[in-house]
Amino acid sequence: MRQVWWSGVAAAAVALVVGFGAVGVVAQDKLAQIQTRRDTMKRQGKDFKAIQDYVKGAGDQAAAEKAIADLESIAPKITSLFPAGTGLDAFPGKTGAKPDIWKEWDKFKAIPPVLAAEEEKLAAAIKGGDKAAIGAQLANAGKNGCGACHTPFREKLS
Ligand code: HEC
Repeated sequence: MRQVWWSGVAAAAVALVVGFGAVGVVAQDKLAQIQTRRDTMKRQGKDFKAIQDYVKGAGDQAAAEKAIADLESIAPKITSLFPAGTGLDAFPGKTGAKPDIWKEWDKFKAIPPVLAAEEEKLAAAIKGGDKAAIGAQLANAGKNGCGACHTPFREKLS
């Protein structure tokens, strides 16, 4: 009898340790997802800058074309960068993703397709080479695509 009791305690202890281990792995996983998301966002920022540089005469058209191609490859993946449980309520200071993203998921996931449509127009403008038109469309994409999401759903990290 005594032996059975002890083995039960041991089994419970093992379960506890394994359980905590699993929670640690999940948190690690989510931090990695946050990192990937932030890196991808930064990449979009760099791409935007490359196009802006071209408009200002500091960069060339080939670099702008490469940047818009990269942006167009990212847009369809944006919503997948936001798995549940990766908001700033769970990871304060690590992410600026507001919990409203998951509360208003339908509104949130409607934004990347708008961004993609603006980027399609931007790609056409870049191909045309008219810098005034490119600058105007870059502003549209920034406002209706990036900004439309950042304003309600992103808190800037200091
Ligand atoms: C559907 C929503 C959404 C769209 C569209 C979007 N972003 Fe973001 N962006 C976010 C959120 C949310 C964060 C905060 C992410 C985090 O901290 O985990 C963010 C963060 C960023 C950051 C800061 C990254 C860091 O960690 O320092 C940059 C730069 C950025 N976005 C650029 C862009 C650009 C440029 C575009 C448009 C081409 C864009 N984003 C489109 C939601 C979006």
